[in-house]
Amino acid sequence: MDASIILFGPPGAGKGTQAVKISEITGKPQISTGDMLRKSVSEKTDLGIEAQSYMESGLLVPDELIIQLIAERIKQKDASRGVLFDGFPRTLKQAEALSLIVNISSVISIEVPDEEIVGRIVGRRMDPQTGEIYHIDFKPPPTEIEYRLVQRKDDNEETVRNRLAAYHQQTSPLSSWYSEKGLLFTVDGNRTIDEVGKDIENFLIQK
Ligand code: AP5
Repeated sequence: MDASIILFGPPGAGKGTQAVKISEITGKPQISTGDMLRKSVSEKTDLGIEAQSYMESGLLVPDELIIQLIAERIKQKDASRGVLFDGFPRTLKQAEALSLIVNISSVISIEVPDEEIVGRIVGRRMDPQTGEIYHIDFKPPPTEIEYRLVQRKDDNEETVRNRLAAYHQQTSPLSSWYSEKGLLFTVDGNRTIDEVGKDIENFLIQK
């Protein structure tokens, strides 16, 4: 398996938004543990049933379940040229497990202050037909598709506060872990979607 990239940052930082373009540039498929878990929840698989309550309260799903999910996913053929991890790893245990099975070429960290996050999350809408992510103010959807947009169950103010707390306690320490390995590239995510995307694109081109 070729080297992979990690997209890192707090909830609502813009990981999913930027992942689409990064995948286009690098040819590496996006692997979002959040999307995989939501699919398991909607299909009511054993994993989904176990993960649901954690996700709805904004807590991290146990490491063992996530590590197993990733270990299975990267066996698939499209992962042979490396992948783009979105929202994984989120704990030191996940990062250590990943380091044993995958070579990481870079970790792109999108940094956004907490006070910006709540507005981004509460205003997010998803198009279930295309997977496109919109925002009622920052990336308004075309009016003709507004009727079919959905809001994630965990996209409410109370859950976001728990997700942010989980991020600061369990996930953000990973940025120094990757920085010490010389893999971390940080981007100021508190700008427009296009500006953030341009910085990431320049980084990928120079690499
Ligand atoms: P997950 O689905 O990964 O959620 P998250 O990390 O909280 O990230 P989000 O999807 O909320 O945000 P994003 O950074 O992708 O932002 P987006 O681009 O959509 O995880 C959900 C849950 O699953 C977790 O809470 C946990 O329970 C579980 N889970 C998942 N992975 C796990 C793991 N590895 N271990 C354990 N548990 C795990 O953008 C957000 C909004 O902002 C959008 O509306 C967008 O249009 C807008 N926006 C984007 N960029 C900008 C910008 N520059 N300016 C203005 N608006 C912007």
